[in-house]
Amino acid sequence: MSTIARTQRQYRASKAPAMALLEWYDNERRDLPWRHNTAIDPDPYRVWLSEIMLQQTNVKTVIPYFHKFLTRWSNVLELAAAQEDSVLEEWAGLGYYSRARNLHACARQVVAECGGRFPEDEVKLRKLPGIGPYTAAAIAAIAFGKHATPVDGNVERVVSRLFAVEQPLPQSKSRLRSLAVQLTPTERSGDFAQAMMDLGATVCTPRRPSCLMCPLKRQCDAHVLGLETKLPAKMPKPNRPIRYGIGFLVLSEDGQLLLRRRPEKGLLARMMEVPSTEWLNAVQGSDDVLRAAPVNTNWWHIPGTISHTFTHFRLQMGVYRAIVQKDVALTLWANPSRCIWVPRNDLKRYALPSVMRKIIAYGLRD
Ligand code: ADE
Repeated sequence: MSTIARTQRQYRASKAPAMALLEWYDNERRDLPWRHNTAIDPDPYRVWLSEIMLQQTNVKTVIPYFHKFLTRWSNVLELAAAQEDSVLEEWAGLGYYSRARNLHACARQVVAECGGRFPEDEVKLRKLPGIGPYTAAAIAAIAFGKHATPVDGNVERVVSRLFAVEQPLPQSKSRLRSLAVQLTPTERSGDFAQAMMDLGATVCTPRRPSCLMCPLKRQCDAHVLGLETKLPAKMPKPNRPIRYGIGFLVLSEDGQLLLRRRPEKGLLARMMEVPSTEWLNAVQGSDDVLRAAPVNTNWWHIPGTISHTFTHFRLQMGVYRAIVQKDVALTLWANPSRCIWVPRNDLKRYALPSVMRKIIAYGLRD
């Protein structure tokens, strides 16, 4: 190993990178509504709420939802006392509704089993609904000042560049995690975690990192080697399969829309949907489509399709539309006991996944 490489290693094994990052954070940190002012102890409820909302969703989208939730339920006791449907209603538009269900279940568990106080350590936090390793570490560090290291894609990017880890993700995950842990200081772990998040979001960005602004640029192996845009290396993703289906927009003459509650288990469990055919690997013929229709009537096939990407597949949906009388008989396929009529103006109050909102917007435009 060259002397320069050894000096770099020694530097990173010291407290110096954490100190440089914390100093940068003190001057440059983003002003976010869940961040506490240093004079006040962080409120675990706000930290937890923000971390759950920030799972799979960006900061800009989360901010108005965070304010809305806090205004309506200012602490965990109030949230635990809420009806699940009203939590889902406030969540509408944030996506991944299982997070909203888990949020509510978690609030209830904290009240019922922990006397209304969030546990402080990662292992206990992880036992609560909706709290995985990242969120547990973030809450432990930010809310309770524990020595914990939340590692997400941002942190993996920063660390893989700092140490020029060329092994691709996901194989490099455990190495990146141990390097991130090694960097974490024993003091101000919460600020350090948030500094890494801010650095990843604003400076050490995926495509065009602003290395000149980076507090770690002189110690960053990827920068020295000119590899920053190549890292982290990733294994190519397998293509997502495509599934096809038809959504049926059934309108009543007085402007209501037929919605159905999805099955209790599985994808988008218990959320509302427009009745649809099964989502299959091939386009279905019109006979099969009409057999799956929720009412026997004259259907108008709206030209074109809408697409939506789920984690494991892409969905391409055609849309049929019909206007019927509200007392029309629903077919068995429609599963009438799970169907309701909803005035079009009230749709925003329902837990409709984005794919369903897209179908409705597409089918009802004009
Ligand atoms: N992403 C996840 N948690 C975050 C936080 N506390 N601040 C900013 N971005 C985040």
